[in-house]
Amino acid sequence: MDHDRLLGELNEFLRIPSVSTLPAHNNDCRRAADWVGAELQRLGCTDVQYLGSETHPVVWGKGPAVPGAPTLLIYGHYDVQPPDPLAEWVTPPFEPTVRDGKLFARGAADDKGQVFCLLKAIAALPKPPVNFRFLIEGEEEYGSKVLFDLLKREPQRVRADAILVADMSYVAPGWPAVYTTLRGLAYAEITVRTSKTDLHSGEYGGAAPNAHEELCRLLGRLKGEDGKVNIPGFYGPVQRPSKAELAAWKKLPFKEKDFLTKRVQGKGLVGLKKYSVLERLWALPTFEIHGILGGFTGEGAKTVIPAEATAKVSMRLVPNQKLATVERQLAAAVKRLAPKHITASVRFLHGAGPAQIKLNNPAFDLLAQAFKEVTGRGSIPARAGGSIPVVPALASAGAPVILTGIGLPDDRLHAPNEKLDLKQLSDGIEVFGRFYELLGNSR
Ligand code: BES
Ligand code: MN
Ligand code: MN
Repeated sequence: MDHDRLLGELNEFLRIPSVSTLPAHNNDCRRAADWVGAELQRLGCTDVQYLGSETHPVVWGKGPAVPGAPTLLIYGHYDVQPPDPLAEWVTPPFEPTVRDGKLFARGAADDKGQVFCLLKAIAALPKPPVNFRFLIEGEEEYGSKVLFDLLKREPQRVRADAILVADMSYVAPGWPAVYTTLRGLAYAEITVRTSKTDLHSGEYGGAAPNAHEELCRLLGRLKGEDGKVNIPGFYGPVQRPSKAELAAWKKLPFKEKDFLTKRVQGKGLVGLKKYSVLERLWALPTFEIHGILGGFTGEGAKTVIPAEATAKVSMRLVPNQKLATVERQLAAAVKRLAPKHITASVRFLHGAGPAQIKLNNPAFDLLAQAFKEVTGRGSIPARAGGSIPVVPALASAGAPVILTGIGLPDDRLHAPNEKLDLKQLSDGIEVFGRFYELLGNSR
């Protein structure tokens, strides 16, 4: 394989700033979809379609027919998260750059580099060994509404013998993984209003309520210093992992101390201390604040009492928690915790249920074999803290959903200086190529 040519092609994809949450990038999302569609065409797909949206279409493709062979549906996403804070990037997010064997760019690992890997693995084979179907969406990072609507209208799109989702990472360098759960997500804005307009903090300070102060207190009540989320009913359906699973996690190449010093690179960990870090990351729900808006944040100083403040927050959900229930619980908790002299409201932006996958299909063994042949170690079961909204819908049709990936835990998804190790990419192309062949030979 010509690595320089491959890298050049991936760079073209990475240079498109397809940030799905920002309307200013609608055209870029469409351009990324077109890039994917052209690639599917080059793979010999007969039926490439752009579905459900002009700006963030789902790209559908149907590979050449391979009579008698199984059907494999490949899922991925061409959209990315916003690149800010821009100043922290060593090289600009949409100018892919190789340093020290790593390719730096927004989307390098999540998920453009991995979509590229899945597709180039097909191109590298003499002929397609299975019947490929493709659903590559452009709104994963914003809740996947377009794809959900499409699957509601046309559920037959997910009909397959297996579904491959490579949007995750190894559990550690040299340790490929296959995932049994994903957390769900409920994303919301909590807005506090305290007066009709902003007020002079000298004329009014001391007697008028302050929206930011009220919002901070409200957020502080929603989650305590001990990391416990104080939303009534929130933990009710949460189940602890089995003893066997907890024991298996102890054998994973994961050290809490390394997680703090090498990955978080902070001074200490937080959260529910009576549970292990992995249990907190993989099997417990969370409440996070992503940003707070309102008041004066410009340069210089302004003495004002803000009338309104908004926090962007989200909750991660674990298996058994229901999205609709958790949304209701948050809205009720905000109402209950807000003092009478403020108006507090909650607006939900998007959400997704948690996913649970049983590894009881031979396809998982074939993936393990492919990893073993190429990297020397088979994929091991793990859980993931992140979310992929459409996975429960993909799984509901009955085919095994194979959640895996070629990234590494330190790829800095959603953060400055996201990267993909080029060795992971070239290994990945071999692994998936081998997996396709094994699956093709499986009947
Ligand atoms: N690829 C990630 C999901 C992921 C990351 C799974 C790490 C496992 C480990 C995906 O692109 C993602 O970031 N999803 C969003 C979904 C949300 C916006 C609905 C997430 O998890 O924040
Ligand atoms: Mn992703
Ligand atoms: Mn992501």
